[in-house]
Amino acid sequence: MRDIKVTTYVTIIIASFLILPTYADKEHPYEKVDNICKDCTCIEKADNQPSKFYVLNCTSRNFSQILDGYPNLFQLDSGETMVDVIFSGNKISFLNQLPATDALMYFSCRHCGIKEIETGVFANVPSIYKVDLSWNALNDLRPEILKGRYSPTAYEPIPLAELDLGHNSLVTLDHGSFEHVLGLKTLNLEHNQLNLEDISTMAALVKLKHLEKLNLAYTGIETLPAEILTDRLIELNLYGNKLLTVPGSLPHASALTTLNIGGNLIPELNEGSFKEVKLLKRLYMSDMPSLQIIHANVFSNLTALEALHCCNNTNFTSMDIGSLSFSTLRTLDISGCSLKTLEITYKDADQSNDSNSSSLLFTNLQSLKIDNNPWHCNCSLFKTLQKLMKFDENDFQSENTARCLTPYELSSDLLVDITIDKLCKVSNNKKPRQPLYDPPPFLRPRSIVFSLLSILIVVLIGLCIGFAIVLIKKKLKQNDVGLSSPIRYTTVRNSTISVG
Ligand SMILES: *[C@@H]1O[C@H](CO)[C@@H](O)[C@H](O)[C@H]1NC(C)=O
Ligand SMILES: *[C@@H]1O[C@H](CO)[C@@H](O)[C@H](O)[C@H]1NC(C)=O
Ligand SMILES: *[C@@H]1O[C@H](CO)[C@@H](O)[C@H](O)[C@H]1NC(C)=O
Ligand SMILES: *[C@@H]1O[C@H](CO)[C@@H](O)[C@H](O)[C@H]1NC(C)=O
Ligand SMILES: *[C@@H]1O[C@H](CO)[C@@H](O)[C@H](O)[C@H]1NC(C)=O
Ligand SMILES: *[C@@H]1O[C@H](CO)[C@@H](O)[C@H](O)[C@H]1NC(C)=O
Ligand SMILES: *[C@@H]1O[C@H](CO)[C@@H](O)[C@H](O)[C@H]1NC(C)=O
Ligand SMILES: *[C@@H]1O[C@H](CO)[C@@H](O)[C@H](O)[C@H]1NC(C)=O
Repeated sequence: MRDIKVTTYVTIIIASFLILPTYADKEHPYEKVDNICKDCTCIEKADNQPSKFYVLNCTSRNFSQILDGYPNLFQLDSGETMVDVIFSGNKISFLNQLPATDALMYFSCRHCGIKEIETGVFANVPSIYKVDLSWNALNDLRPEILKGRYSPTAYEPIPLAELDLGHNSLVTLDHGSFEHVLGLKTLNLEHNQLNLEDISTMAALVKLKHLEKLNLAYTGIETLPAEILTDRLIELNLYGNKLLTVPGSLPHASALTTLNIGGNLIPELNEGSFKEVKLLKRLYMSDMPSLQIIHANVFSNLTALEALHCCNNTNFTSMDIGSLSFSTLRTLDISGCSLKTLEITYKDADQSNDSNSSSLLFTNLQSLKIDNNPWHCNCSLFKTLQKLMKFDENDFQSENTARCLTPYELSSDLLVDITIDKLCKVSNNKKPRQPLYDPPPFLRPRSIVFSLLSILIVVLIGLCIGFAIVLIKKKLKQNDVGLSSPIRYTTVRNSTISVG
């Protein structure tokens, strides 16, 4: 009897230990997956044959947790199957461990209010590839969160390639935050007030040697430590930070093709700014009211540059585009600055003949935006523009809304409506230089002649009329003297009858 009682106790205790890990944890119970395709949308995409690609979309379903499984409809057994699981817009402050599957997975939970994440959240999803946890309230990334399955020697790494932690409340990272996801290729940390002076934050980032895309926009950084840049990095976003210069550490990212340094506090760009990032194809440097000067040779080492976006730099008044790579440039956007003129001084300029100076230099330019600048429309501006685009070609991809601000007689004219020949005539004929100050219209020679002529005509007409009146008066007087006609009387009655 006693023995039986003891064994029952023991079994109960053991059983409760076995059950505990699965149920005691569940202060955050999962949502039930039964009939889930009625509530969420379950899609099988056809465009990924022969392997299957499913989408489970539970956006804004008022869930307080993720599901405890995957829809039966999905055949997730094969390793080649892909599944995109979306829980964005639910109120999930604690993110549970994802239910097990071997399928290749994209997981997103944006705007979920996530504050905490269960340890080993992806441990049962060994093929997790892409995770989007942006717009949440994370202020911590414990190393255990991203750990994989336990194997006798160590935790298996998880093959996460893309991680979006943008718009969270991360200030520091643990030095081991990413130690289980060392293969990470894309990391987005935008809109976190990161402290890169913190040793453990730096240690966490330095470990990511395979990173190809790094987004540090709006992270409040003032410097960019060289240690986090590698020769694998191809895309770097530093928009909206407190940088005062183009970071001197950039050469460490020697393979960079896309760089955004816009929205920073950079007052000038000089020759050294982009010296060693020779593979750069797209450069963004917009929205910098502090930017005033771009020195002439800034772009000379960027021989592969395809796109330059330099807009909304409201304190930026003149630019020399002679150091841009003529043959590779496809997009040039310099709208919304304070540009009055555009210069182009370049090495081979002397060789080109005056008669041929109008030939196109930017032979591959496809998009040009120059609107919203206070252009001073003179011959030199148009000569530069002529090297950028063919004015007479209607199919040129530019917003034809750029207007002249000065000189007075061209103000608010569209640049595309102005004929270059007319503007440049004066200098070609070697006429005396136009005075620096533009006289108001009524003081220009043509206007003066015109005014004098009108006055003369008015005076002549006046004289004629005067003469005619004098003549008529004379004649009338003669008539008065000679013929005094008798006075005729008509009755009022007669006249009213005639009217009636
Ligand atoms: C998921 O559903 C929401 C609306 O419920 C929709 O706006 C969103 O585009 C869908 N996402 C995908 C990837 O289908
Ligand atoms: C969301 O769920 C809560 C309970 O979890 C409920 O009180 C609330 O009314 C639900 N809101 C909507 C819009 O369904
Ligand atoms: C361009 O690169 C070469 C070689 O790295 C360097 O010597 C030169 O100073 C650079 N030019 C500019 C304008 O940065
Ligand atoms: C624009 O430049 C002027 C100096 O020319 C400077 O005083 C002003 O602060 C600049 N504006 C901004 C927004 O930086
Ligand atoms: C420039 O500013 C205008 C108005 O402030 C805005 O509409 C436009 O999107 C901005 N362009 C860029 C490239 O930031
Ligand atoms: C312009 O070209 C002509 C021949 O086409 C040549 O005789 C003349 O010297 C050139 N002028 C300049 C300034 O290079
Ligand atoms: C100038 O351009 C014309 C065609 O536009 C060409 O025939 C001529 O050879 C060019 N002259 C020089 C000196 O490049
Ligand atoms: C054209 O206007 C710009 C800006 O005012 C000025 O710097 C330049 O010298 C002018 N060029 C000529 C040929 O008048």
